[in-house]
Amino acid sequence: MDREEKENLIENAVKYIIPHFASWELLEREPKILVKGEGCYVYDIDGNRYLDTFASLLTTICGHHQPEVDQAIRGQLEKLEFFPNYVDTFTVPLIKLAEKLADIMPGDIEVSFFVNSGSEANETALKMARQYHFENGEPARYKVMFRRFSYHGTTLGGSSATGLGWFREYFEPLLPGFIPTYSARCHDCELGLSPASCSFKCLKMMEQQIQWEGPEKISALIMDPLPGSNVGYPVPPDGYIQGVRELCDKYGIILIFDEIQTGFGKTGKMFACEHWNVVPDIMTIGKGFTGGYIPLGAAVTSQKIYRPFKRPGHEFRSGSTYGGHTLACAATLANIEVIENDRLVERAHELGAYLWKKLEALSKHRIVGLLSGMGLLQALFLVADNSKHIPLGLDQTVGDFVRDYCYKNGMIMRNNGNILVMAPALIISREQIDESIEILDRALTAAMAHFKL
Ligand SMILES: Cc1ncc(COP(=O)(O)O)c(C=O)c1O
Repeated sequence: MDREEKENLIENAVKYIIPHFASWELLEREPKILVKGEGCYVYDIDGNRYLDTFASLLTTICGHHQPEVDQAIRGQLEKLEFFPNYVDTFTVPLIKLAEKLADIMPGDIEVSFFVNSGSEANETALKMARQYHFENGEPARYKVMFRRFSYHGTTLGGSSATGLGWFREYFEPLLPGFIPTYSARCHDCELGLSPASCSFKCLKMMEQQIQWEGPEKISALIMDPLPGSNVGYPVPPDGYIQGVRELCDKYGIILIFDEIQTGFGKTGKMFACEHWNVVPDIMTIGKGFTGGYIPLGAAVTSQKIYRPFKRPGHEFRSGSTYGGHTLACAATLANIEVIENDRLVERAHELGAYLWKKLEALSKHRIVGLLSGMGLLQALFLVADNSKHIPLGLDQTVGDFVRDYCYKNGMIMRNNGNILVMAPALIISREQIDESIEILDRALTAAMAHFKL
């Protein structure tokens, strides 16, 4: 491609497209145009190759151009590209995918409602919980509890359930009845306590809140068992997730686990909640579910929750044109089969331990603080001095510098301020992990020199 053509593309991209969660700071530099993907690598319009350690926004679990998934899409394309899952119509890939989910989901979770994105999956789960209580003769249960420091999507329902101010501030007042509650961020406890001696005070406070709000008015509690990349994957202490389940059971509250980011092997188990043997009432899935090929999400629940909807006049009142798209289901089924056949869940566990060791070794740099996460979802918290636990100042954009350095040196790395995220495709090799650590190591050295740290 000649220079003029490329410049035209960039000009029109910036003129005609509003990027999702856009950053003018970055757009005003050179916007990036990607043209090719291969395994863990992507290529830009100039032919530069990048090792993607954020798996195309946590989606391409099996990498780009996975032959089995490519083939499944081609095969389905030749038969039927699309027919909606509407009123009483189904397609074969849709049914096969639902069967597969029923097989791999934890506990009694086995009935799927298919949508197009993670946000829509959460929106659906919230509606499902409300209508479930309505059908069960408890229409007053409308409130939703959510946790601070969480992200549950960009729709108004998802934003209302999101506990990070940045995603909410322009849209308030959000939906009524959404109650922020305590998270389990033991490295930075909201209550200023330490896990060794706190006796789960956060759960006790949560119970007090339930009682104060009136359990008979609470429909659901939504949470991500392992909070996501925005907050650096803080791992809850053993007993916390079990404690939340007990509270929901005690007060008849539907427990929704958002596994949009954590599902399909990334934490070293097929679903993160399996680390604590806790089964939700509804689980939402998206992102890596499809392997990044064609958008698809789902809210998956038990027959117990589905039962009240199985009567004429009481059907679940929700739907969308493309939810359960035929090609998306074919691609997703193939993606899950690759995860199973290539033992990618076990691989995430093993390579997660390898990555952890390598990241731990980077604490030789004074600015590398806490390391957090599970499996192949890991985050490094940058600090001013790790021996004295001094945080970086708000104006010290070291994370942005590291991200830019990595990009210039052939690696895509996600940062959220001074939290660096490593969440590669599960097919990543040890050599590619070594390659990423080597670039990160150099980036940290350069950052320390640049910021005089
Ligand atoms: C935990 C979690 N929930 C929900 C969502 C929203 O999913 P989507 O962007 O597909 O709407 C995301 C996306 O980042 C997520 O990480």
